[in-house]
Amino acid sequence: MRYTLRIWRQSGPTDRGGLREYQVDGVSEDMSFLEMLDVLNERLLLAGDDPVAFDHDCREGICGMCGLMINGIAHGPLKATTTCQLHMRHFDPAVPIVVEPWRARPFPVVRDLVVDRSALDRVIEAGGYISVLTGSAPGAHAVPVAKVDAETAFEAAACIGCGACVAACPNGSSMLFTAAKVTHLGVLPQGQPERGTRAVAMLAEQDELGFGGCTQAGECTAVCPKGIPLESIAALNRDVLSSLR
Ligand code: SF4
Ligand code: FES
Repeated sequence: MRYTLRIWRQSGPTDRGGLREYQVDGVSEDMSFLEMLDVLNERLLLAGDDPVAFDHDCREGICGMCGLMINGIAHGPLKATTTCQLHMRHFDPAVPIVVEPWRARPFPVVRDLVVDRSALDRVIEAGGYISVLTGSAPGAHAVPVAKVDAETAFEAAACIGCGACVAACPNGSSMLFTAAKVTHLGVLPQGQPERGTRAVAMLAEQDELGFGGCTQAGECTAVCPKGIPLESIAALNRDVLSSLR
């Protein structure tokens, strides 16, 4: 198959950048979106052109590195799917594909499709450590956890920190991400001692870093590849409010 791509090219953080059009042929329907970009980059290199910079690592949907805006949708058109797990059979070769980086103030463009998402690490750091000594794995397992709480924690822990929620949010808010991280520990017995202060500190840090506030638009959960529910934001708000009381 042959595709027309309109890809954001930007040589560095201070370059204005713009969309450039490329034709890429020889694409199989079984290729992932990133493999299709690999094919394009091989051709660009052979022609002596700069390859398109894009982030990736695991290519199996677990590292969160591969976020791209594809036709205006974070991670592309398939629900609950990271860009690396998205296959070309979902694209009509007759329709051009527009590929852009995440757009959010706290995610400056490094080059082409690569953005600096380290602001999300700062939010996690602000949460600090838990003071409970869990010892080795058998020790941690000795603390009983209700099944419903274990499932909620596991669901929240599935967040891979990709930043799609921020990119999709009209406010550039990281609330779904922060809520996932807060919920992950907040429902477990080991997470109780610092539960409130952790939520307040993480929320303050995300505000400090320039992420927007949440107005319940719901765009975040619609694009989240791990299905983090909007209810986790309500849980974060509850933790913050009860801590400030
Ligand atoms: S909440 Fe979802 S969209 Fe946001 S960073 Fe986590 S996995 Fe990505
Ligand atoms: S490359 Fe790791 S989630 Fe896509």
